[in-house]
Amino acid sequence: MPRILVTYASRYGSTTEVAAAIAEELTASGLDVDVMSARPEIQVAKYDAVVVGAAAYGRKWLPDASVFVVGNQDSLSKLPVALFTVGTLGVKNPKAALREHDRIVATLNELAPGFNPVATALFHGSFTRSNLPLCLRVLDWMAGTPQGDHRDWDAIRGWAQRLGDLLRERLDDSGSEAGGEVEGNDG
Ligand SMILES: Cc1cc2nc3c(=O)[nH]c(=O)nc-3n(C[C@H](O)[C@H](O)[C@H](O)COP(=O)(O)O)c2cc1C
Repeated sequence: MPRILVTYASRYGSTTEVAAAIAEELTASGLDVDVMSARPEIQVAKYDAVVVGAAAYGRKWLPDASVFVVGNQDSLSKLPVALFTVGTLGVKNPKAALREHDRIVATLNELAPGFNPVATALFHGSFTRSNLPLCLRVLDWMAGTPQGDHRDWDAIRGWAQRLGDLLRERLDDSGSEAGGEVEGNDG
């Protein structure tokens, strides 16, 4: 059974739960899935495909996920890789959020040339101002960041199901390139 790694970077836990839902759907589609936060000791060579995701902060992925991609670029360039971003910008401004996500993917491709994602997705996240230190709460109140849980579980699970189909097709038929990409964007 093909082994899949789902790895992620999260500060307050909403991306952790998105990664867990993606892992559940990939498992349900007949893949052997490990899900864990992005960290240097992960042995990418054990896996047949990798899904990497991160929460967006300040228009960038949290660094643990970017560092994981750059640090493992040689291994990742030989595997099917899927990427997802979790953020709340798209709740009010979907076009700006897509531009941000596309820029993040393009920057990863520049920093780690040679790997080519078979699928990418942008999902709405969850944000609670009370998680922030007091001084940042005031700034955030002025910035008007959308509050609450905007995660669309149907969109997340639907993307993961289509990704599972794509990975099984590619990995069952290794050597030949299965066509198609899996896009999944909220908003
Ligand atoms: C200081 C701060 C900066 C943020 N910057 C962005 C951003 O640039 N783009 C975006 O879409 N969301 C942004 N967000 C929203 C988070 O990405 C969102 O709340 C996400 O679900 C957090 O994931 P986590 O719970 O896994 O840390 C920001 C949130 C905070 C508190």
